[in-house]
Amino acid sequence: MTEIRLRDAELADMPAVTAIYAHHVQTGYGSFEEIPPAVEEMVRRRDQVLARGLPWRLAECDGRVAGYCYASPYHARSAYRFTVQDSIYIDERFVNRGVGSALLTDLIGRCTDLGYRQMIAVIGDSGNEGSLRLHTRLGFRTIGQAVNVGIKFGRWLDLVLMQRALGEHADVPAAPPVGYLPPADQMGP
Ligand SMILES: CC(C)(COP(=O)(O)OP(=O)(O)OC[C@H]1O[C@@H](n2cnc3c(N)ncnc32)[C@H](O)[C@@H]1OP(=O)(O)O)[C@@H](O)C(=O)NCCC(=O)NCCS
Repeated sequence: MTEIRLRDAELADMPAVTAIYAHHVQTGYGSFEEIPPAVEEMVRRRDQVLARGLPWRLAECDGRVAGYCYASPYHARSAYRFTVQDSIYIDERFVNRGVGSALLTDLIGRCTDLGYRQMIAVIGDSGNEGSLRLHTRLGFRTIGQAVNVGIKFGRWLDLVLMQRALGEHADVPAAPPVGYLPPADQMGP
């Protein structure tokens, strides 16, 4: 395969991003969504990520969008402000060729540089070998598993939580991460 080029996802990339995600929503267990979102909804999600100064990154191979990943707040409540969650989806034609590793390595570096301290992966399906291996390879360890909390295509699904530290700090930081926005809505965990 030719070189993997990483860059920010632009508005013009969102139809390709939407198509990649739609495939995985319709055929896999990695996402617990069951109806693929429209482009407008994916644009809205990207806007929310960018509004927090968080990265939404994209990989290109052979001039085509091969995959994307982004970071979002792990939970809305303010005490979670140093913790992000990653989301990553690779075009089915490019899986298992190193694109996911390149994207996630980049995302980890960017979130570390912004001042975040922990990254959580919320992995749909305990049989999701690709995602479990990708995250293990990049230093995540399994911290828990919720059993039979999802149902898709007539099958009960587990959720696996994995975590890695961003950087090696032990101190309590004086300031929130760069771009941190206090939540408008404190509902949820
Ligand atoms: C999970 C995913 C992002 C991994 O990206 P990728 O580009 O395929 O990953 P890489 O090629 O960098 O490979 C990373 C590791 O995963 C392994 N892997 C990738 N796809 C695999 C598969 N289908 N089955 C088993 N292992 C797989 C690779 O062998 C490699 O393992 P290693 O470190 O032990 O050598 C991608 O397969 C994908 O989009 N899956 C569907 C959507 C999904 O589940 N997203 C994650 C939601 S939490």
